[in-house]
Amino acid sequence: MSHCSVSRSCFALALLAGTSLFSTSHAAPASSLERGEYLARAADCEACHTAPGGAPFAGGRAFNVPGIGVIYSPNITPDPEHGIGRWTDDEFVKSVQGGVSPGWKHLYPAMPYPAYSRMSVDEVKDMRAWLATVPKSANGVPANQVKFPFSIRTLMVGWNLLNGPASSYPDDPQKSPEWNRGRYLVEGPGHCADCHSPRTMTFGLSKSQAFAGNVVNGQRAYNITSDKHSGLGTWTDQALSDYLATGHAEGHGTASGDMAEVISYSLRHLKPDDIHAMIVYLRDVKPQSSSDGAAPVRQPTSGDSSLPQQTNGAKLFASACSGCHLPDGSGRQSAFAGIAGARSLSADNGRNLLHAIMNGSTLMTDKGNQPMPAFSGGNYSQKDLNDIAAFVMTHFTEATPSEHAFSEFAKKPD
Ligand code: HEC
Ligand code: HEC
Ligand code: HEC
Repeated sequence: MSHCSVSRSCFALALLAGTSLFSTSHAAPASSLERGEYLARAADCEACHTAPGGAPFAGGRAFNVPGIGVIYSPNITPDPEHGIGRWTDDEFVKSVQGGVSPGWKHLYPAMPYPAYSRMSVDEVKDMRAWLATVPKSANGVPANQVKFPFSIRTLMVGWNLLNGPASSYPDDPQKSPEWNRGRYLVEGPGHCADCHSPRTMTFGLSKSQAFAGNVVNGQRAYNITSDKHSGLGTWTDQALSDYLATGHAEGHGTASGDMAEVISYSLRHLKPDDIHAMIVYLRDVKPQSSSDGAAPVRQPTSGDSSLPQQTNGAKLFASACSGCHLPDGSGRQSAFAGIAGARSLSADNGRNLLHAIMNGSTLMTDKGNQPMPAFSGGNYSQKDLNDIAAFVMTHFTEATPSEHAFSEFAKKPD
């Protein structure tokens, strides 16, 4: 029993032997495959290395880096031709932690290797071991379209000197084990700062404004420091743990877009203790005030007849949105469609709100996928969508919508 290395075969063996896994699992050390899978989820590899509708880890997802171009994630399945099947473990470690693939191919930091350098070499090898068990895919990935001079990959040598890989660090003995575990998860595999920290002039992560928020892929990744107005200072631990573990917290809405993916592929697979550890650490990062705080919430009355009918935005909300989001924003079919209190309804003058309306969003949950349709390119003009956004903002919050901001947010990235 103690030698089976794959969790599933352990399970099968346990069934065959007629023993209970649960009575023996305490003593059994976690196998490196199990550890590898858990860490690969904590590091969210699948979300970035899977194209929409594509085979898991087969790459081809496009990353639009403003001013630089379009970078496609590579195929990291064990396929020997198109994937990384022929790589040695050491080559894998050098790529994932040092940003240098075989043949001295310097990676762009769209791949969060500086964060992954916080992990131990053994942990990265465990991830490799698990990745070697996922189905092979012969998916070929389009060539990057990167503008000169950024097309010269060796430029990344300079970038790495300024901003590049740190290394794993010892636990801080002044802090609790939870805090240290939380720091490791947030700064290492979780790479939360990649989206939530502002960037410096050289496109490195700002340390002085760590976690004060940034705009990534057209969405605001909010300030997640403990600041009371613009950060997470007023969230309870329960709300924060509900949001991170499931994507929804009562009174805070539902994670959408990139954050819905982080939860779908990564955070919802973490153990409650690990979610708790991340909260302990986030509570302790320096509070930072930022200008994207949310406007005060309004409590609209419930019932379809309570929706005003005089404006285009209100009429369209009644026909296009309230079938899923009730007039009071509480979610008709499931709590996951509960948007009341969400920061996206007002913060940053409606950026994430308009993003959700235009592009839709899907959150995976243990109760199935929770999809929100994309309204761009359908029967609604951009003006209609802006009107809906303006209505939502004034109906659910005290924000003042800005037509100018909407037209900026609605622009497609170059
Ligand atoms: C935020 C998105 C993102 C995440 C998360 C991410 N990657 Fe990547 N990864 C990329 C992109 C984009 C590239 C290509 C960079 C380039 O072309 O320079 C890449 C490159 C790679 C490469 C180099 C492949 C090659 O052919 O050179 C490997 C290996 C890799 N990633 C493995 C992983 C693993 C393992 C994880 C999880 C621990 C992971 N990635 C998480 C976006 C991501
Ligand atoms: C790929 C980018 C990305 C990564 C990585 C990421 N986030 Fe987010 N996060 C976002 C975006 C975008 C939002 C806003 C979502 C919305 O409007 O629904 C968000 C929202 C949040 C919120 C809600 C804030 C609020 O005020 O409503 C919390 C909490 C959060 N993220 C924590 C984390 C943690 C912890 C990590 C690391 C484990 C993380 N995020 C990693 C992009 C990201
Ligand atoms: C078919 C049901 C459905 C329809 C129709 C729909 N939504 Fe959603 N919406 C959802 C679900 C489910 C979520 C949560 C999924 C997610 O965020 O990934 C969501 C998420 C959102 C979010 C982000 C969540 C948050 O709390 O910040 C906003 C904003 C939103 N919807 C607004 C609208 C607006 C405005 C309309 C009409 C134009 C609309 N929705 C139409 C089901 C729907």
